[in-house]
Amino acid sequence: MRRPLVAGNWKMNTSYAEAQALAQGIRERASASPVEVVLCPPFVWLDLVRRILADTDIALGAQDVFWEDHGPYTGEVSPAQVRELCKYVIVGHSERRTLFNDTYEAVRKKCSAAIAAGLVPILAVGEDAAERESGRTEEVVCAELAAALPEPPSGPIVVAYEPIWAIGRGYPADPEEAQRIARLIRSQLAQLGCDDENTPILYGGSVSAATFEGFVSQPDIDGALVGSASLDAEQFALLVEIASRTQF
Ligand code: 13P
Repeated sequence: MRRPLVAGNWKMNTSYAEAQALAQGIRERASASPVEVVLCPPFVWLDLVRRILADTDIALGAQDVFWEDHGPYTGEVSPAQVRELCKYVIVGHSERRTLFNDTYEAVRKKCSAAIAAGLVPILAVGEDAAERESGRTEEVVCAELAAALPEPPSGPIVVAYEPIWAIGRGYPADPEEAQRIARLIRSQLAQLGCDDENTPILYGGSVSAATFEGFVSQPDIDGALVGSASLDAEQFALLVEIASRTQF
């Protein structure tokens, strides 16, 4: 059975004090859960959050990574550096793809370098509004997966289906529609030679406690990649609780 996973992507939010309070609040509310809980704070707070989470099962993730090991890459962070602090790393988030020009090739290199360093990539895929309206959702999701995973990965991965039009809008996708795409992702993973049955598939895009049960009760959706609701310890812990109640 796949272990449900709820990951909080804090994006470029929180001051030092806010990150400290949020991590402490989540530690108090979610550390005894059978769900795999992952916090992805900004790079600058990774070590702070790591120290707060010490002695808990809550895992840490970075929001991005470069593919080279070390060298003259001002501003970048290597997979080996991330691995010293984290288990997971988000790769291919649509905000990286659209705002920072992370191409298919960059996502592939980041994904394989992360796996080689012993990190578990949370590979984000998803269509934008225009692609959806022109009926290209399946094509885009399959192309993003195939481009990121040209070879079967040599370690575990997580895939997050994040329809871009549902991110940060307050209205999520329809859970049955998300299930249909999660099912497609699982069959595409099998075609690409991946361990499809054991790969967690998450939904992301305006996840909130009000609607999350509809997603996590779908057979191919194993949890969520959460943006704004992960910045509130109570809301985030509620999502962890819903995943735990629905899946166990
Ligand atoms: P929201 O939950 O704020 O829509 O963000 C989703 C997301 O992009 C998580 O990576």
